[in-house]
Amino acid sequence: MKKFKFISALVVAMLMAVLVVGCSNDAAGGDGNKSGKKSKGKVNVGIVLPTKDEPRWVQDETRFHDALKDSEYTTEILFSQGSSAKEKENVETLLNKGIDVLIIAPHDGPAAGAAVEAAKKDGVTVIAYDRLITDTKGIDYYVTFDSVAVGEAQGQYLIDHAADGKDIPLYLYAGAASDNNAFLFFEGAWKVLQPKIADGTFVIANSSAAEALKDKAELSRDELGKVLGQVTTNWDANEAKNKAQTHLTAASKELKGEVAVLAPNDGTSRAIADVFGTDPDVSKYVITGQDAEKASIQYIIDGKQSMTVFKDVRTLVADAMGMAVDILDGKKPETTGSYDNGSIEVPAKQTDVIVIEQENVKSELIDSGYYEESEFKGL
Ligand code: BGC
Repeated sequence: MKKFKFISALVVAMLMAVLVVGCSNDAAGGDGNKSGKKSKGKVNVGIVLPTKDEPRWVQDETRFHDALKDSEYTTEILFSQGSSAKEKENVETLLNKGIDVLIIAPHDGPAAGAAVEAAKKDGVTVIAYDRLITDTKGIDYYVTFDSVAVGEAQGQYLIDHAADGKDIPLYLYAGAASDNNAFLFFEGAWKVLQPKIADGTFVIANSSAAEALKDKAELSRDELGKVLGQVTTNWDANEAKNKAQTHLTAASKELKGEVAVLAPNDGTSRAIADVFGTDPDVSKYVITGQDAEKASIQYIIDGKQSMTVFKDVRTLVADAMGMAVDILDGKKPETTGSYDNGSIEVPAKQTDVIVIEQENVKSELIDSGYYEESEFKGL
């Protein structure tokens, strides 16, 4: 799977200003009507998100609702609760309500192919949201953050903030192998960490598969798959916690002390941090994250998580809805590059990410109005 091909300098188009879309969940029952705005029972834009169990996706739901307040188009948001079967059912429900555009963040990238192909067959334009749907011709567009840059930022943070000297124990964790992003995040992290593993700055503490590849600057999809197979959290905090406990139980004293931990996102980072934070032989840990979840911002303020990668969901929502409105208005959406999904080149719009640590919580998250200061203690 190739990563994003960047065509022009990224312009974060503040589409909010032109968004005249809104959310109306009163569109019960479908009339299959493929035209018209707010006709009875008609939903113009169907949105399918992976799970309500992770704050990341609840954030997206909230931001969609915020952006959709004064819409002339109707939308409906459904959650798949970590099940590809439920996801397919959600898409069918929305097709029966006559949607013209489907915005979907798949639970499982390859498995979502069948659902979006059904939508395409019905004449619907499909926009993959945040996560790419792989190995299918069934998608038209992709809106995403720069996922390789997320991993690079995490890796670079560990390099810049880990202990001085050599042989610093490095614990690697990754997302779910069913999510293309997990590959991109790890690819980005590996790109910056690998030279520092090869020169002996870091010593991999918990993955024989990564250790065996330590002299390879670029990993193939299969090689990445091998490492992910060993250190995946499946995006699950409990799995992350259990793995961290197993790793620390097995680790010798040389693999403790001051350590660095690549944690793929905030939910898993907090779970792993809790384990490392209570091991008496771990004197200091530097740990990454992503999503700027509120609970992790509090962890960062409290010094329990080192950083997070902020992906401003307002921009992603604006991009996705901006594209949907263009499509509904018969215009061609603007894209800035493309992603190879294993089957086709998908025209894409990509957004940059920002590293958050204690010092810039206030300037990036509070002053920009993303969160309220009162939502945190000790800021
Ligand atoms: C998203 C992350 C999220 C993870 C787990 C990824 O595809 O890009 O923001 O933390 O899935 O849900």
